[in-house]
Amino acid sequence: MTPSYDFTGKVALVTGASQGIGFAAARAFAESGASVVLADRNADALSAAVASLTSDGFTALAVVCDVSVEAEAKALVDRTVAAFGRLDMAYNNAGILGPWGPVTEETEAGFDDVHAVNLKGIWACMKHELIQMEKQGGGAIVNCSSLGGLVGLPGRAAYHSSKHGVLGLTKCAALDFATKNIRVNAVCPGTIETPMASGIDQAALQEVIREQSIGRLGRPEEVAAAVLWLCSDGASLVLGVGLPVDGGFTVH
Ligand code: NAI
Repeated sequence: MTPSYDFTGKVALVTGASQGIGFAAARAFAESGASVVLADRNADALSAAVASLTSDGFTALAVVCDVSVEAEAKALVDRTVAAFGRLDMAYNNAGILGPWGPVTEETEAGFDDVHAVNLKGIWACMKHELIQMEKQGGGAIVNCSSLGGLVGLPGRAAYHSSKHGVLGLTKCAALDFATKNIRVNAVCPGTIETPMASGIDQAALQEVIREQSIGRLGRPEEVAAAVLWLCSDGASLVLGVGLPVDGGFTVH
């Protein structure tokens, strides 16, 4: 189903790559010929994910990294370049949902956690990816927002504000680097069948499926397909967008 690209000789980096959408993207980059760096803060899940790619004959490297710590994001890019010499494509995917509830019940710690990973983490990774891509003369970055970056829903103020912020980061960075052969875009997934979505209660999930016009949850591979397209030359005129990949959730 994922269209094929020839990324032979290119280097891709994916954060939050142990499972879910991140792992699907890492596999899709690998199947397209790229050498792939998988980063995650869960070391055990990460080594299993990398082992499953290398056992299929792909070139993949695991880097344990908490994206919310800038020094770790910098070390991740440094490690990528030390291993493979360059960084052509990056998908900044790592994110957390945090607890849901009315804004009056959100805690300072919960708000800070969600923003540290979902917003600061994207900023930190993107900053160091851009520094490397500018040095080498080009690249493409895709950040992970959400349908929650495009609309508000009750009970999700911290998560949705972090995902709205991702689109702000994406637009500003896209403009900063528009003439430097570096494109920065974002994807805004709808509700996708991943371990994250399995944490959503069944009633809420059924409501989401009703509102996702296509009538089903998305699959991680469907988001990966959009990420690869945004990284490809096929998207050479596309920058600063937050592309809905949501089965029509945000259409109505
Ligand atoms: P998931 O929970 O299945 O996987 C997320 C991965 O990120 C995990 O491997 C986790 O260990 C890693 N991670 C979390 N915090 C990290 C940190 N500080 N540093 C490094 N790695 C970290 O999530 P899923 O569903 O695959 O989501 C991926 C992205 O897509 C997230 O940004 C999420 O917000 C976004 N998204 C997901 C949707 C869904 O319905 N599944 C809908 C819209 C957006």
